[in-house]
Amino acid sequence: MPDRKTIAVVGATGAQGGGLVRAILGDPDKEFGVRAITRDANSDKANQLKKLGAEVVEGDVDNLESLKNAFKGCYGAYCVTFYWEHFSPEKELAHAKAMAEAAKDANLQHVIWSTLEDTRKWVPLDDDRMPTLMEKYKVPHFDAKGEANKLFEQSGIPTTYLHTSFYWDNFIYFGMGPKKGDDGKIALTFPMGDKKLPGMAAEDIGKCAYGLFKKGPEFIGKSVGITGEKLTGKQMAAELSKALGKDVVYNNVPPEVYRSFGFPGADDLGNMFQFKRDFESDFCGARSVEFSRSLNPGLQSFSDWLAKNKGKIPLE
Ligand SMILES: NC(=O)c1ccc[n+]([C@@H]2O[C@H](COP(=O)([O-])OP(=O)(O)OC[C@H]3O[C@@H](n4cnc5c(N)ncnc54)[C@H](OP(=O)(O)O)[C@@H]3O)[C@@H](O)[C@H]2O)c1
Repeated sequence: MPDRKTIAVVGATGAQGGGLVRAILGDPDKEFGVRAITRDANSDKANQLKKLGAEVVEGDVDNLESLKNAFKGCYGAYCVTFYWEHFSPEKELAHAKAMAEAAKDANLQHVIWSTLEDTRKWVPLDDDRMPTLMEKYKVPHFDAKGEANKLFEQSGIPTTYLHTSFYWDNFIYFGMGPKKGDDGKIALTFPMGDKKLPGMAAEDIGKCAYGLFKKGPEFIGKSVGITGEKLTGKQMAAELSKALGKDVVYNNVPPEVYRSFGFPGADDLGNMFQFKRDFESDFCGARSVEFSRSLNPGLQSFSDWLAKNKGKIPLE
């Protein structure tokens, strides 16, 4: 099908992009082709994508010319940045700028920018409710993404601003899952009080993004928010207890205690949870389960995700 529209996917070997690549390749209608972008076209993960039928092209968000080449001839692109690789909001901004520029150069018809709220609109830098980090941010890994929206707006590229949710996969890969304490109790520790945390299976982000590409112009220029389910810490602990067959309790700590845990990014994440707690109605209101399901009918709830993944959650 030579005239099939191709979507270039940044982060194709990762969580968000990988979900999108698989969604495109798994579509029985084969409506779109996919170009998987990676820094190493010969890695095991890249080879797996080739086996599934993806075109694999090398590109690096640090290298504008490589992105121009990777986006060339495509219909659209999924653009995401990788904060936890470098912990630098400035790098995220530079990478977003490069992707917007490459998208413009390739005259793309539809870009999805994976973004998050600029929390400084709710908590200005002089607001002492949470500490200012790196001199210019409240939640560095959120704020730069939100700030970067304007780079896509200003470039005039037809863009959908996709607000994602906390991955439940963080319970497996990001050290955020329930842990056994010295007292032998298994606890899920968050500074969320009794407020709801919108979460989702990471792979569902790509599936929802594919739904947006299929809808085409309807969501261009719009901000949308996706989630699989919104649950309190207590509700998550109850679901975990049911799935794991072990008692899991919710350990609600104050944000300042979470910020002091000392792992890299603890202060950023402490501020993030505090923002989600203190602005629950805005943050949850910007993400809709029903809308997400309209894009991705197989959208997983937390219990669906647990049924598939409970064996991978390390409890130590
Ligand atoms: N964890 C959460 O709950 C959550 C929720 C919402 C949003 N986010 C955001 O999601 C973003 C990360 O997305 P993800 O989870 O999909 O990433 P991921 O699974 O960690 O994947 C990282 C991918 O990025 C690619 N990559 C790294 N540096 C690159 C570069 N310089 N140029 C091109 N590709 C590069 C790597 O591909 P190769 O090695 O193949 O090049 C790798 O496959 C972060 O910015 C984070 O803030 C996370």
